[in-house]
Amino acid sequence: MTSSPADVVLKLEGVVKTFPGVRALDGVELEVREGEVHCLLGQNGAGKSTLIKVLAGVHHADEGSISWQGQPFAPASPQAAMRAGIATIYQELDLVDDLSVAENAFLGHEQSRAGFLRRRTTSARTREILARLGHAQIPPRRLVRSLPAAGKQIVSMARALSHDARLIVMDEPSAVLAHDEVENLFRIIRELTAQGIAVIYISHRLEEIRDIGDRVTVLKDGRTTAANLPARDTPTRDLVSRMTGRTIEYVFPPRTPGDDRTGGEPLLEVEGLTREGEFADASLAVRAGEIVGIAGLVGSGRSELLETIFGARKADAGTVKLGGRTIRSIGAAVRHGMGMAPEERKSQALLLDEAIYRNMTLSSFSGYARSGFTDTSKERAAAAKTADQLELRPRDVTRPVRTLSGGNQQKVVVGRWLLGGTKLLLLDEPTRGVDVGARAELYQVIHDLAAGGVGVLLVSSEVPEVLGLADRVLVMREGHLIHEAPADEIDEATVLDLVMAGSLLEGDPA
Ligand SMILES: Nc1ncnc2c1ncn2[C@@H]1O[C@H](COP(=O)(O)OP(=O)(O)OP(=O)(O)O)[C@@H](O)[C@H]1O
Ligand SMILES: [Mg+2]
Repeated sequence: MTSSPADVVLKLEGVVKTFPGVRALDGVELEVREGEVHCLLGQNGAGKSTLIKVLAGVHHADEGSISWQGQPFAPASPQAAMRAGIATIYQELDLVDDLSVAENAFLGHEQSRAGFLRRRTTSARTREILARLGHAQIPPRRLVRSLPAAGKQIVSMARALSHDARLIVMDEPSAVLAHDEVENLFRIIRELTAQGIAVIYISHRLEEIRDIGDRVTVLKDGRTTAANLPARDTPTRDLVSRMTGRTIEYVFPPRTPGDDRTGGEPLLEVEGLTREGEFADASLAVRAGEIVGIAGLVGSGRSELLETIFGARKADAGTVKLGGRTIRSIGAAVRHGMGMAPEERKSQALLLDEAIYRNMTLSSFSGYARSGFTDTSKERAAAAKTADQLELRPRDVTRPVRTLSGGNQQKVVVGRWLLGGTKLLLLDEPTRGVDVGARAELYQVIHDLAAGGVGVLLVSSEVPEVLGLADRVLVMREGHLIHEAPADEIDEATVLDLVMAGSLLEGDPA
C-alpha cells in the first residue's frame, strides 16, 4: 500500500549514522504522514534515539536522504530543526533547571525586542500554551528545577508548541509518567494530530502503541525491519519477532509451590518509618528469598520510602533493621549487604564517563564503598558475565556508559547488584526503558537472586509487573501503605482501584 505523496511530510531513505566502533543506524527507512502518530519500536540499542537525534539536528547522518515537507532536509543544529518545525522531547529531558518555565518554553526563539516587554509577552504566551496542554496551574515564572518529571515534560511540550512545530518527536515520554498523566499526554497528542501535526512516538509499552498509534515502524540493529504496520491490528508476536528476530512473550518466571518463602525469618524490618510531607508510619518486612512489591502512583512516596530505608534520606521517626541490626546511613546499609538501584539513573547512579565494568563493580551509587576488586581483569570478567546475563548491547564492558542507549544504561544500574554479596536489594522501577525482550531476562535474574536467598523490595508503576514478580504486594497511596496481600490473591483492577481512589481501605489509613 502506498500513500499519496501529498500527505507524507517526512521521508527517510537509507539513513546511516556511525559512532566510533558502532553503526548505530545502518540504512533506516521511515515515512511519516501529516496528522498521524507514527510509532518507532525496537530493542534497546536498536537506534531509535539516534534516529530522532538526526532529525533534531543533534547528530548528522553520514549517508542517506531525508525529505521534510517535500524539501531535502539536513538540519545543522537543534535550532535549525526547531525553526523548520520539528520539535523533540528527549528521553533524557534537556531543560535548563535554573531557568523559569516560560524561559524554557521560549528557549531558542530569536530575541529582538526589549527585555521587559518580552518577558511579559512570553509569560502570557506560556500561560496560554500551558492552558492548552491542560496544565494552567503551572506558574510560568517558576524554576523548572522545582517541577516533578511530569511537569518538566509538559514544559518540553510547551516549547514544541511555542515553535509551532509540525512534527513532534517524543522519545519514551511515558517512562516518567504515572497512569493518569499518560491519559493526559494521550489527550494532548490527539488534539495535536487533529490539527494536522504529526507525532513520532517511541515507547517500549505495546499497550500504549495500540492505544495512541496509527502506524508502526520497527528498527533492529539500526535497520528498518518493517514499516507502516497498522498499530492496532498487528499481532504482538509479529511486532516482537520483527524487533528481536525471535518470538518472546512478555513473561514472568513461573512461581513454583516450593518458591514460597513468606514464612521465613525477616531480613528487613521497617517500623513506623516517617518523613514529614513524604510518607508516614510505614511498617513492612521482607524475608530472605522473598520478593515484595510496592504498587502506587508516582508521587505516592514510594521512591522516598525506598531511599529512606537505604539511608539516603534521614527518617523523622521509625527504624530500619537489616538482619537485626539498625541501619542509619548508606554506609551501614551497604556494609551489611543492602543494595539499591534508584529511579533516576543519570543523577543518582551512574558515572557516565567511566567504563561499563567500573560502573558495574562499584558497590554503591554514592561511591561510598569502593569496588572490592584489586585486579582489573577479574573485575572485567565479572562484569562481562553480568553483561551476558542481562543481554547488554554492545557487550564490550570497556566502553563508557555515556555511549549506551537508555535501556542499556538501566541494565548497568541493576547489574551492579548481581555481582554478589547483596542480601537485600531495593529496586526502584527496575525495567524503566528496558525493551520487551530484555525485560524477560531481567525478571529471570531477579527471580534467580531471590531463589538464592536475596530479599527483594521492588517499586514499579506497572501493576502487572508488581503482580507478576512479587510474592507479596503492598499498596501505597499518598504516603501511606494502605493494603497488603499475597500476589496471587489480588488482581490488577483491585490494585488500580486502591492506588487511584483508595476505595478498598482496610481500616484507617492514617
Ligand atoms: N554518542 C554515542 N557514542 C557511541 N555510541 C553511541 C552513541 N549514542 C548511541 N550509541 C550507540 O548507538 C546504538 C543505538 O543507540 P540508541 O540510543 O539510538 O538506541 P535506542 O534504540 O534509543 O535504545 P533504548 O531503547 O535503550 O533507548 C547503541 O549501540 C549505542 O550504544
Ligand atoms: Mg533511546
